[in-house]
Amino acid sequence: MTRTATSAFMADVMLITLDNPPVNALSNALRRDLHEELQRAFEDAAVRAIVLICAGRTFVAGADITEFGQPWQRPSLPDLCTFLDDAPKPVIAAIHGTALGGGFELALACHYRIAALSAKVGLPEVHLGILPGAGGTQRVPRIVGVEAALEIITSGRRIGATEALSLGLIDAAVGDAILRDEAIAFAKRVIADGGAMPRIRDRTVTVEAAHARSDLFANFRKANPHRFKGFLAPAAIVEAVEAAVTLPFDDGLATETALFERLVASPESAAQRHAFFAEREAARVPDIGADAVPIDICAVGVIGAGTMGGGITMNFLNAGIPVTLVEMTQEALDRGIATIRRNYEATAAKGRMTTQHVEQRMALISPSLDLGALVDADLLIEAVYESMDVKRDIFARLDGIVKQGAILASNTSFLDLNRIAAATRRPACVVGLHFFSPANVMRLLEVVRGSATSKTVIATAMKLAKRIGKVAVLSGVCDGFIANRLLAPRGYQAEAMMLEGTPIAEIDRALVGYGFAMGHFQMMDLVGLDVIGRDAAKRTVMGDLVAAGRLGQKRGAGYYDYDEKRRPSPSAVTAALIAEVAAAGGVAGAATRGDEALLARLLYPVVNEGAKILDEGIALRASDIDIAAVLGYNWPVYRGGPLFWADQVGLGRVVAEMRALEAVHGEVFRPAPLLVRLADEGRGFGSLS
Ligand code: 3HC
Repeated sequence: MTRTATSAFMADVMLITLDNPPVNALSNALRRDLHEELQRAFEDAAVRAIVLICAGRTFVAGADITEFGQPWQRPSLPDLCTFLDDAPKPVIAAIHGTALGGGFELALACHYRIAALSAKVGLPEVHLGILPGAGGTQRVPRIVGVEAALEIITSGRRIGATEALSLGLIDAAVGDAILRDEAIAFAKRVIADGGAMPRIRDRTVTVEAAHARSDLFANFRKANPHRFKGFLAPAAIVEAVEAAVTLPFDDGLATETALFERLVASPESAAQRHAFFAEREAARVPDIGADAVPIDICAVGVIGAGTMGGGITMNFLNAGIPVTLVEMTQEALDRGIATIRRNYEATAAKGRMTTQHVEQRMALISPSLDLGALVDADLLIEAVYESMDVKRDIFARLDGIVKQGAILASNTSFLDLNRIAAATRRPACVVGLHFFSPANVMRLLEVVRGSATSKTVIATAMKLAKRIGKVAVLSGVCDGFIANRLLAPRGYQAEAMMLEGTPIAEIDRALVGYGFAMGHFQMMDLVGLDVIGRDAAKRTVMGDLVAAGRLGQKRGAGYYDYDEKRRPSPSAVTAALIAEVAAAGGVAGAATRGDEALLARLLYPVVNEGAKILDEGIALRASDIDIAAVLGYNWPVYRGGPLFWADQVGLGRVVAEMRALEAVHGEVFRPAPLLVRLADEGRGFGSLS
């Protein structure tokens, strides 16, 4: 068996190299090998100091998440850290890339940390629904103090080497190219200075300072409600950090371990780990291999400088890719560019970028009123009005302008991509790139594969998505693609229940209780009722609200009334309109009451649509559907997405409840064949992968 940790002796200093591609995760094998190498170095009288360094692209990225759910094999990661605590010789961690989670905890158990200037450290466990389980919650407060530790561990943010140095999380930061040599030199200096072995566990100043401040933890919880809602891990992190203050180090560690074990066994953490792997799995397209070589995208053209076009443009500017932005009128172009600038300036005002960065990004835009300016672009993205005729016209014109091999993309959110592609003589170059609004923020990018789209184009789109910080999910062509099609039934059911007499506030409350940031009607009001396209032929509550000037939050009135702080309250006007529209449409039926019944009505049709999307081959895998819902519609990540959630409910129960709903509300609740088959076989969507 190949060893994942090996040693080389460099006059007094033992260099132990961890090599477990791709990210040096601390698997059972790596921990065992590292333990043996350390043991050998501890016993070897010629060794006076040890440097831990990693091969490949990064320092240790954490515990091996794929091994979660199985008991730790010995030595566990906490054991390994204790073994380092008890080391008889100085140990220095040499960090490059990212030292995350258990990787950073391993480094914190060493006596010294030296990092490359480009390195980052952090404890991102919270994003997996767990807490740092190898001493992170006990050691970090001993370095940075309790408040900073709470912020670092509950946010899971990555900290650059310079900030880490100023916080004391590392002892030195050096040029990337000289990390190894500097780490050895550091070790030699430690030896020359007498071989001191400072341990973070022995520090007491910061935790003792927090003794007198009993309100600190309650205040932190109160100040950060968004970090806690629905999630289990943040509260457990606070509890563990509190233990660092109130208990001796070993007892604090024991508290941390107990909390870790509870969290790792929770459905919330299972869901968040599912999302972690789903995000990465989505990038794989089974029939696209190394033979499909992605095109280099050096210049992009965006057609349409409206909200979507502007947001799309920002993604490329952020990645340093120049964009030619084309509009029909100077006014629209100026407005679009001014909005982009305003967005950047707002970010700069919050201290999240410098004014120099704002100017660098703005300088990458070439505005134009002429499609001819797109002649050199490698990728063109059309983001104009959702009209088949308009889009076909643009694509036909682009066909005569852009260079051979350029990719022609449409940002359409529901139109038939194959019809758009047919307007050109190069349908193989046409792809859908469906961004979600706000396009510079939302991480989902649906890559829509038309019947003629070439493999090269798909490979390019998937790679480009990662470059601009998006998670690409491949979709086939259908009305609404994956995410919009998936979630549409939730809206239909919300509106149907409203007409049957269920108060909209109850419907919204059930969704918020489930974990959505807001309910269906709150979301409509936020987007603006005039912005949402409606079926003009049919009388609807929304149509009536718009006619009454109740356009949503921006007017202080929509489905809800809003006060000056934009807090919603039920509206008598809306209630009367609902009753009128229901009477006019002859809507019968009783109000649905109780969160469980409301959620079954709202969310089972989403699960059902997911089953259809999967069965039709529109999505490649169940986890793609989940990640599209999480990243495109803010489906609560601790529920894992609709299909993961349905598996947890049990498909047998989902089907039985849907059949009961079908008996009352009709066909829309008829369980999809795939759902029925899986339920009959006692399986879940997870078993399909
Ligand atoms: N365990 C197992 N596999 C991991 C892993 C981990 N901790 N981290 C990454 N991987 C895998 C990914 O699944 C992916 O596999 P694939 O190629 O088969 O899809 C591969 O490594 C590469 O990962 P990315 O595609 O994410 O590569 P990037 O270069 O974009 O990012 C990274 C690298 C920043 C290290 C990123 O992978 C990451 O954030 N990893 C997770 C870090 C983390 O959460 N660490 C904490 C783990 S929990 C823990 O340590 C518990 C402890 O406190 C006890």
